[in-house]
Amino acid sequence: MITVFGATGNTGSPLVDTLLAKGAAVRAVTSDPAKVENLKAKGCEAVTANFTDPAALERACAGAERIYLVTPAHLDMRRWKANAIEAAKAAGVRHVVLATGLGASPKAKVTFGKWHSETQELLKESGLDWTFVQPTYFMQNLLWQADTIARDGVYYDDLGGPVAWIDARDIADVAAEALTGAGHEGKTYGLTGPEALTGEDIAAILSEVTGRAITCVPLSVEDSKAAMIAAGMQQEVAAAMVELASIAPKGYLAGIETTVSDVLGRPARRLRDFIVENRDAFVQ
Ligand SMILES: NC(=O)c1ccc[n+]([C@@H]2O[C@H](COP(=O)([O-])OP(=O)(O)OC[C@H]3O[C@@H](n4cnc5c(N)ncnc54)[C@H](OP(=O)(O)O)[C@@H]3O)[C@@H](O)[C@H]2O)c1
Repeated sequence: MITVFGATGNTGSPLVDTLLAKGAAVRAVTSDPAKVENLKAKGCEAVTANFTDPAALERACAGAERIYLVTPAHLDMRRWKANAIEAAKAAGVRHVVLATGLGASPKAKVTFGKWHSETQELLKESGLDWTFVQPTYFMQNLLWQADTIARDGVYYDDLGGPVAWIDARDIADVAAEALTGAGHEGKTYGLTGPEALTGEDIAAILSEVTGRAITCVPLSVEDSKAAMIAAGMQQEVAAAMVELASIAPKGYLAGIETTVSDVLGRPARRLRDFIVENRDAFVQ
């Protein structure tokens, strides 16, 4: 049995699909009782557990040999993941595949890298087997802007430099391999897409695919942070987000990792293909 936390999210949802396609027994976890039936309809077990509820987390892990652990970017995410790691240990789980972020390490200089590193170190100390899945920016984030791209013909660039965007489905596929294959214990998988693209590049692809002129408009740090807070993000998390974005103009988010092709034996998905697949979201 494999327990998948965050099973309705960007990486957890495609992970459940990939694991089921591989024939694995899956228990999908949501914090929202209203989502249980939809998860069960995929053909897996589905249970509710909140990251704040240790007893429910332990029940969600009972009988599982491996788990996928992801939380949303949240100020409490270190505590939430610590709760889940403790529950996994108590339930006799052997191997945790932990989703963190590219560059997370004790040497990380940005807040997200430090936060994720704390959890990675905690998992190492737990005595459980571990695999770290460390993605860069998800292509799926572009969907946050689908309305303004479609309505105003504007792509707001809050990064200001090239980024090697990854499709969350590739993160899920690598995690699925780590959860079902052999030899992934003790591995740290940095994950990017196959090419680094600027905001101008993305606007050009959006223009080509939608057949409309989409303009790239740089977003200031203040406006970017304000937009995230207005969308419900906690102040400290929004601050960490703009701090992370601030390294893009220096080229630090442009490096390409070959992990997707190394682990899966096929190339990572391209941003252009993601935009083609989601074309309807970017046109009115
Ligand atoms: N987005 C990016 O570009 C990016 C880049 C690098 C790293 N990351 C990292 O990736 C992680 C986010 O991954 P993701 O996008 O796959 O996650 P996600 O979609 O943001 O969230 C996963 C799921 O967590 C569940 N959840 C929320 N609150 C919960 C709670 N209190 N208890 C239990 N479950 C709860 C939600 O499902 P229910 O509503 O069904 O409970 C949600 O679907 C973060 O750690 C972030 O730092 C993101």
